[in-house]
Amino acid sequence: MGLIMVEVQRPVGERRWFPFTFEEAGLGFNERWWYNNPVYPRPERTFLRVTESNSEVARVSLGDDVDIRNYAEVPPLGAIALEIRFIEVHSDHRGRGIGRTVVDLLHDRYPERRLVAFSEGADGFWSSLDWPRYLHIDPEEASRRRPLFIQP
Ligand SMILES: CC(C)(COP(=O)(O)OP(=O)(O)OC[C@H]1O[C@@H](n2cnc3c(N)ncnc32)[C@H](O)[C@@H]1OP(=O)(O)O)[C@@H](O)C(=O)NCCC(=O)NCCS
Repeated sequence: MGLIMVEVQRPVGERRWFPFTFEEAGLGFNERWWYNNPVYPRPERTFLRVTESNSEVARVSLGDDVDIRNYAEVPPLGAIALEIRFIEVHSDHRGRGIGRTVVDLLHDRYPERRLVAFSEGADGFWSSLDWPRYLHIDPEEASRRRPLFIQP
């Protein structure tokens, strides 16, 4: 699978920007995730576009400011934690191994970091990568909060 991952660059001098254009926002991707919220310099965000044969097949948003302290028995990751805030494979391309390959590409791109993700209904995906699952420390909160998965 020939996937290419490229960072979407903030336009020079722009304080507020949209990493994905209005025209491409809904094309096989969730508009709410990729267009509705403009991005500001802080907190720092990284956006990556993944293509296969020049077609966009996946998008990823990363953030440095993840707080996992309220989850039970998590390893002490500190500043090496890097959150996959959103990962989405184009709706026409799901179930082909692209999501798994994108996570492998992220490992290669950030070898010093430990990737973490709060699952939004995709526990099966994260579990299939053998990432352990963590729940909020407070059992009542745990039923409301998204489960946390951490790269082993
Ligand atoms: C979740 C998502 C990124 C997975 O990408 P994908 O390219 O379809 O996944 P892959 O083909 O690489 O599948 C890898 C494994 O995950 C499993 N899997 C994928 N999506 C799954 C899901 N939603 N639920 C359960 N298992 C899933 C596959 O069965 C496969 O398992 P296997 O290796 O044992 O066969 C993709 O379905 C997607 O974009 N979904 C909508 C957005 C989303 O939910 N993002 C995650 C938010 S935390």
